[in-house]
Amino acid sequence: MSILKEARQAAEGVAQTALRKAVELAPDTWIPGGRPDPLAGRKHGLIGAPVSRLDGPLKVTGAARFAAEFPLDGMVYAAVAHSTIPRGRIASLETAEAEAAPGVVLVMTYRNAPRMKPMPLFFTAGKAVGPDNLPIMQDDRIHWNGQPIAVVLAETQEEADHAKSLIRATFGAEPATTSFAEARAKGTQPATFMSQPLQLEIGDAEAALASAPHKVDVVYRTPRHNHNPIELHGATLAWDGDTLRIHDATQMVAHEAWSLADIFGLQEADVHVTSPFVGGGFGCKGLWHHQVLGAAASRLAGRPVRIALTREGVFRSVGGRTLTEQRVAIGAREDGRFDAIIHTGTVATSPHNNMPEPFIVGTKSAYAAGSFKLGVDLAHLDMLANTFMRAPGESVGTFALESAVDELAHSLGMDPIELRIRNEPEKDPTTGTPFSSRHIVEAYRAGAERFGWHRRSPVAGARREGEWLVGMGVATSTYPYYRMPGGAARITLRRDDSATVEVAAHEMGMGTATAQTQVSAERLGLPLESVRFEYGDSKLPGAIMAGGSQQTAAIGASVIAAHRVLVTELLRLAGNDSPLAGLSPDEVGGVDQGLAKVDEPERHESYASILARAQRDEVVAEAEAPPPLETMHWSMHSHGAMFCEVRVNAITGEPRISRFLGSFDCGRILNSKTAASQFRGGIIMGLGLALMEETQFDERTGRIMNPSLAEYHVPVHLDVPAIEVIWTDIPDPHAPMGARGIGEIGITGVGAAVANAVFNATGRRIRDLPITLDKLLV
Ligand code: MOS
Repeated sequence: MSILKEARQAAEGVAQTALRKAVELAPDTWIPGGRPDPLAGRKHGLIGAPVSRLDGPLKVTGAARFAAEFPLDGMVYAAVAHSTIPRGRIASLETAEAEAAPGVVLVMTYRNAPRMKPMPLFFTAGKAVGPDNLPIMQDDRIHWNGQPIAVVLAETQEEADHAKSLIRATFGAEPATTSFAEARAKGTQPATFMSQPLQLEIGDAEAALASAPHKVDVVYRTPRHNHNPIELHGATLAWDGDTLRIHDATQMVAHEAWSLADIFGLQEADVHVTSPFVGGGFGCKGLWHHQVLGAAASRLAGRPVRIALTREGVFRSVGGRTLTEQRVAIGAREDGRFDAIIHTGTVATSPHNNMPEPFIVGTKSAYAAGSFKLGVDLAHLDMLANTFMRAPGESVGTFALESAVDELAHSLGMDPIELRIRNEPEKDPTTGTPFSSRHIVEAYRAGAERFGWHRRSPVAGARREGEWLVGMGVATSTYPYYRMPGGAARITLRRDDSATVEVAAHEMGMGTATAQTQVSAERLGLPLESVRFEYGDSKLPGAIMAGGSQQTAAIGASVIAAHRVLVTELLRLAGNDSPLAGLSPDEVGGVDQGLAKVDEPERHESYASILARAQRDEVVAEAEAPPPLETMHWSMHSHGAMFCEVRVNAITGEPRISRFLGSFDCGRILNSKTAASQFRGGIIMGLGLALMEETQFDERTGRIMNPSLAEYHVPVHLDVPAIEVIWTDIPDPHAPMGARGIGEIGITGVGAAVANAVFNATGRRIRDLPITLDKLLV
């Protein structure tokens, strides 16, 4: 371990100890020390209302401007050339012909690129979001097959693309590790995730497994996945002296501004990142080399630059989900109770990133068991840095765990739902902390009734309709509640009853701006039309990442804090002549364009009246969210139960999903329309994971062989049946608005629900994703 890493971990240790002390001292309410969010239990009004996306008209009319659509005066267009070997040196790089081609302004290579620091790796600082820390175009070295080796700038995109085709590179290849088996043979090492170890042992799980009367002990494999949001990665950027302006497609405006400043040696305030719309994020819309290289080339050429990656460019230079090999072993007693859960395995990663696929995270709190052995090991390959992809860890971890539970239920002769309920934990089985709110049994019962689970035959292969074998499967879905530190918000309330709420957050199509407008209007006691929610700009307060399904909670906690400052100031301005005189901020809430005592609504004064008397046009309140102590005090997770009906063609092996239902327990649902869409979108992505998505990685050369949507398959309309989604809507008393995250849970559990349904239909247990027809042909 490096000295730097040790120092960092020591510092983190001190911080963790301080946090633990604070948690111990804290009383038992939302955010320990506070009171539950009054909106959590509100049964009327805007919370939960199916409000259509406020930006919908802009998007359907094409008026919403995305990152690669901003026109800048004097702008040039970029094209990127990539390496064709996985490791070695650039032996020769001929650029003269490209430089002489029509319209070309600059060809940037390692020979003329400005000096820059490597990207600051994720988790090494509060706002560090570099997916790798490689010195790209700073020397002649090649680290992965597809690494950018040249950027061409030209007056048009076509001229840039043409000139790029004229660049001739030869390479001095060096031995590279591009096979998973070879990488493992060279030795693996234990993984850490977000500075925490991904290893956990409680009791002697191997011994408990060995002596268990019923057991399953099998290996599951999941392949690499590439990110394919509809909007390709792109940025439009310009320098003004030592300040950088970048229109980007990103899930992390504030983090990106900080990281770019670090790379170019600038002040954080001198980098301005905006991202009003993102055409799908899923974990890949963050900082990658194209923004850095685009900015470097722009500086060199003295021209604004638009750098828009091609679909192939995204495959070559934006990482995706890495492959996993997972052993799951469960030892159970005669009555089905688990005595041992073992979930271990290895993932592929690159030597220059710190993102393992943390597939054990969901397993830590899934089931009660006498003993646990959990661990993720890393094998290093010379490949593009893998990264976050919707529910990293849980998407593939639940495939393995929830398939294994189904296998065990089958061998026990038990209904798989009953086996899960029998092992439902009362408190977190590995930390011992109480759950903030866990109603997964209700989700299972409601889903089973709605889906008609009782019609499932426990005998595999028993139901046939013509050529089609029909089966049903179920699996638990889960995703943790996170709330990252750094949130802040500003509220401006005006005498005309309008308000603006500002946070450095993001709208990637999921409905955040709409839901947060609803929440803010409800909190302020204003109609929806009076509230504007501003986001997507690094100059706004806070650093709020749209990742880890935590944005809703992070914004909520920030707005609660700013709102309290606002109410405190309004009460001060109201003074002694107000019906509110003498009341504390805890006693009042926003009602009917003003403040009122919560349990005595006739004690009310309108905002207009308060501000008029104080001779003020507006009040501005800004505050930071409290640190996320709730996640240390309680075990907090979104929960769900996935139900799948599959039809497998007995002759061709073709699997077809005929029905799907997701039954969720994610706390309060803030907008029933956009939430249903989030859940469905996650499930559709899960169907892709189950049945088709697979990056074809050539293990001889480390080259991705299917870098297009023609060859990398994602579900299309005909692959997706009507998907029903239902939810408990039980508020979590320890989350802002009572709401836990919903962005990622939809993809989790789907792989196993499909695999379990396929087993029920055919008697074939598929442990390698994706479940393609060749694996089902006998
Ligand atoms: Mo997500 S993979 O945290 O965008």
